[in-house]
Amino acid sequence: MSRTQYYCASTLDGFIAEADDTIDWLTGYRGSYDGPNTEPGGRGNYERFYEEVGALVMGSVTYSFVIDEIDEWPYRGKPTWVLSSRELPTPDGEDVRITKADVSDLHREMIAAAGERHLWVVGGGDVASQFADAGLLDDVIVTVVPVVLGEGKPLFDRRLPGGPMQLTGTRTFDSGMVELTYAIVRK
Ligand SMILES: NC(=O)c1ccc[n+]([C@@H]2O[C@H](COP(=O)([O-])OP(=O)(O)OC[C@H]3O[C@@H](n4cnc5c(N)ncnc54)[C@H](OP(=O)(O)O)[C@@H]3O)[C@@H](O)[C@H]2O)c1
Repeated sequence: MSRTQYYCASTLDGFIAEADDTIDWLTGYRGSYDGPNTEPGGRGNYERFYEEVGALVMGSVTYSFVIDEIDEWPYRGKPTWVLSSRELPTPDGEDVRITKADVSDLHREMIAAAGERHLWVVGGGDVASQFADAGLLDDVIVTVVPVVLGEGKPLFDRRLPGGPMQLTGTRTFDSGMVELTYAIVRK
């Protein structure tokens, strides 16, 4: 069953990027942990997660970062929606759809495109909040990096509707990062 999952890396104080959209705190992080029950991994278990992704959705700031910083489109073959009120260039030959439609109106199409796999809400925090506000978010999967920035772009822009989430999984990595998986509890 396809799930709508917000998967990202966050600082310990809940930021996914600096205020200027840089992420050196993540790309430059070099930590270690030699306690029990660890898994190898810098950025958690990204490859395993990505294999289960059937479609993606992201905001335009995140999209611009991907286009500017990464030479080849990294999500080849996976339908991707970019939320934007502007016209933006798209990579040649890739299924990238720029739209300003409401996420509630897009969700059915996104889930159909994901097939048996999941819909990855890449970010940022406002996009994640749009899905949460509409009752469309199933899981929050956060890889916590032990860094405190004090300010930046938040994990969520707004309070999550409903009560606390339900912890459904944890993974500890030898890098010192910890992945937390929570299911959204709907009333
Ligand atoms: N740490 C991680 O794992 C992680 C994950 C994801 C992102 N990031 C980073 O976090 C930062 C996120 O930045 P952000 O929160 O400012 O931005 P964002 O969510 O990527 O983009 C926000 C922009 O998307 C457009 N938008 C969003 N919803 C829309 C809608 N329903 N209709 C029309 N347009 C819509 C608007 O811009 P326009 O209409 O002007 O285009 C809005 O200003 C980026 O630097 C990104 O690279 C980090």
